[in-house]
Amino acid sequence: MNSHSLLKSLLILMLLVGGVTGHTLRAQSPVLQNAPARRVLSLNGSWNYIIDPYENGFYDYRREAFDQSKSGKGGYYDNQKPSSKQEPELIEYDFDKSAALQVPGDWNSQDPKLLYYEGTIWYKKSFTLAPKAGKRYFLYFGAINYESHIYLNGKKLGMHKGGFTPIQYDITSQLSPSGDNFVVVKADNTRRPNEVPTINTDWWNYGGITRDVFIAETPDTYISDYKVQLAKNDPNTVAGYVQVTGTGRANQSVTLSISEAGIKQSLKTDAEGRATFRLPAKKLVRWSPQTPKLYAVTLSSGSDAVQDRIGFRTIQTRGADILLNGKSTYMRGISIHDENPLIPGRARGEGDLRMLLTWAKELGCNYVRLAHYPHNETMLKLADEMGLLVWAEVPVYWTIAWENEATYQNAETQLSDLISMGKNRASIVVWSVGNETPLGEARLKFMTNLANKARSIDDTRLISAALELHRTPDNVVHVDDPLGEVLDLTTFNEYAGWYWGGSPSEITKYTFDIKYNKPVMISEFGGDALAGYHGDAETRWSEEYQEALYVNQLKMLGTIKNLRGMTPWILADFRATRRQHPVYQNGFNRKGLISSTGTKKKAFYVLQEYYRQMAQKYDGK
Ligand code: GCU
Repeated sequence: MNSHSLLKSLLILMLLVGGVTGHTLRAQSPVLQNAPARRVLSLNGSWNYIIDPYENGFYDYRREAFDQSKSGKGGYYDNQKPSSKQEPELIEYDFDKSAALQVPGDWNSQDPKLLYYEGTIWYKKSFTLAPKAGKRYFLYFGAINYESHIYLNGKKLGMHKGGFTPIQYDITSQLSPSGDNFVVVKADNTRRPNEVPTINTDWWNYGGITRDVFIAETPDTYISDYKVQLAKNDPNTVAGYVQVTGTGRANQSVTLSISEAGIKQSLKTDAEGRATFRLPAKKLVRWSPQTPKLYAVTLSSGSDAVQDRIGFRTIQTRGADILLNGKSTYMRGISIHDENPLIPGRARGEGDLRMLLTWAKELGCNYVRLAHYPHNETMLKLADEMGLLVWAEVPVYWTIAWENEATYQNAETQLSDLISMGKNRASIVVWSVGNETPLGEARLKFMTNLANKARSIDDTRLISAALELHRTPDNVVHVDDPLGEVLDLTTFNEYAGWYWGGSPSEITKYTFDIKYNKPVMISEFGGDALAGYHGDAETRWSEEYQEALYVNQLKMLGTIKNLRGMTPWILADFRATRRQHPVYQNGFNRKGLISSTGTKKKAFYVLQEYYRQMAQKYDGK
C-alpha cells in the first residue's frame, strides 16, 4: 500500500472512529474508471434550488451543523414536508415550490441575480430507481464548484472539495426499495485563501453543478479501475492493470481484448482483485495528432464488461527534444479555458467542447493547454479522437497557502483524481502541477512534492508547471526557477509587449538565459485586443497591437534554441471578474485570438501561418 492510500485509509479510520466533524475529507467508493461508458440514468435537467448565503439549511442558529447533530436532521437535505394540514410544522423552505436551475450549468449564467453570487446554493432532484438484486449503483457528478455536501434520501454521502474533478459515491445501500429517491447537494463556491485555487484567480468563479450528473449501474462485482497504455519508453509493450472490486474480486478471471489488434488476453486477479499485464504491442498503430488511431478495448470479468477507445503512443524527452513515438516534435499549441465564449458560463457539453477543439485545429494546433484546472472528461476523449496532444493541470495557481498541510492534501487529491480520470487518454502528455506560483522555500517544497507525486502515480507522461522568470537591466530574461530541476520541460509564461518590455516593436531586444538543458515550452504569451477595434501597432487594445505583439513574440522566441512548443494565451476571450475596463474588457479577458462573439482577430492568422511553417519543418506536411 503506497503512502497516499495508507494516509487515506488512516484518515477514513479517523473519521469512522473519531467522527471528525465539520469538514471531513471525502470518503467515497473507489472512483469508477470511465463511468460515462457504463449504463447510466442521467440526472441532467431541472433541479430545484434554494439560495442560502447564511447557510441556514446547514447550521442551526448557534452555528452547529445539522448533519453533525445526534439526529443528523434539521437541514434542507431532509427535504421536509408538512405531515398534516391541521397542524403543519414550521418549515421555512420547500424545494418543490422553488425555482429550477439547469444541470449541467453554473448558476452565475442562469439568473442575473446570481452573476456574481458566491456562497451556498442547495440543489434538489427526485428520481425513480428501484435497485435490482446483484447490481451496484454509483452517483456521479462530473464537477461541482467548489465545496459540496451530498445527501441521498436525507442521508449524507460525503463532502468533496475541488471544483473540477469527478465526484462519485456507491449508493447501492442507500437507494429506497420503493424506487422513489431524492438527492440534495449543498454547493458552495466561496473563495478562501487556504483552498485550491486560492482566493485570487483570473477566471470567473462559476459555482454549482457544472458538469453531467448520472447514476451508473454495474454488477455487484465489477471492474472499478484499469489502465491500458504503452509501457514507459517501450513502444512494443502494452502494460497496465485491471482492478476488480466486490465480494467476488479475488482470483477472478478477466479478459482484455483489443480485437482489431488480435489481442485477447486472459488474466487472473490476485487476492486484492488486481491483475497486471504486459503484452506485445508490435501490431498496434501508434496514436499521434496526424493519425489519432483509437482501438476498441474491452475489459470483461464475470458478468461485467466495460468498453473504452484507447490510443497507444510514447512520449519522452531527450535533451532539448520532445519525442512523440520516438520522433522529435514541435508542440503547436494554444491555451483554452473550460468556457465557450458564445454561450454564457462554463462549457456545458460535447458541442461546446468540440467547437473549441475545432477552432484549435483550424489554427493549425496539434496541442492544447487545458488551463488552469481539470477539464471535462469528454474534452479529453475528444482530444484523443481529434488528434490533439493535451497539457492537463491542477489549479495550484498564484498565491496558494504553501505552509498549510490541508491545502497540500487537497492539491494532491485533485492531482490524483485528475490522473485517475485521464490515465487512459493518449492525448494527455503533460501533467502540470501548477501555474505562475511565486518563488519561496515553502512553495518549492509543495510543488516538488506534487511533481514527485504525479511521477509516482504515472511515470509514462511528462511533468511540468508554468515557472517563474526574472529580467535584468541588460534585457536578458532569466529562467532559473529552482522548481525547473524536477520538471521534464522548462515551461514559463512571459508577457513581453503587454505587461512589461514596452510596445511590441521593442520586445525583440530581449534574449533568454535558460538554466536547464530541457525542451522549452512557452506556456503563455499574449495581449488583449478588442475585436473590431483598430489602430496602429502602438495602439494598445487594438487588433493591430495584438497582431504586432504576436509577430515580434515569435521573432523573439525564435532565438531560444531549445524551443519545442508553445501555448499562447489564449484561444478565445473569456469571462474574468478582474477585467473591468468598461470599453475594452467589460468582464472579459480579451487575450483571445477569437473574440467573445466568435470572430477571429488579426493575430489569429499570424499564429496560424507560424504553425503552418512549423508543421512543414517538423512533420513535412
Ligand atoms: C497569467 C495567468 C492567466 C491570466 C493571464 C493574463 O499568466 O496564468 O491565468 O489570465 O496571465 O494576465 O491574462
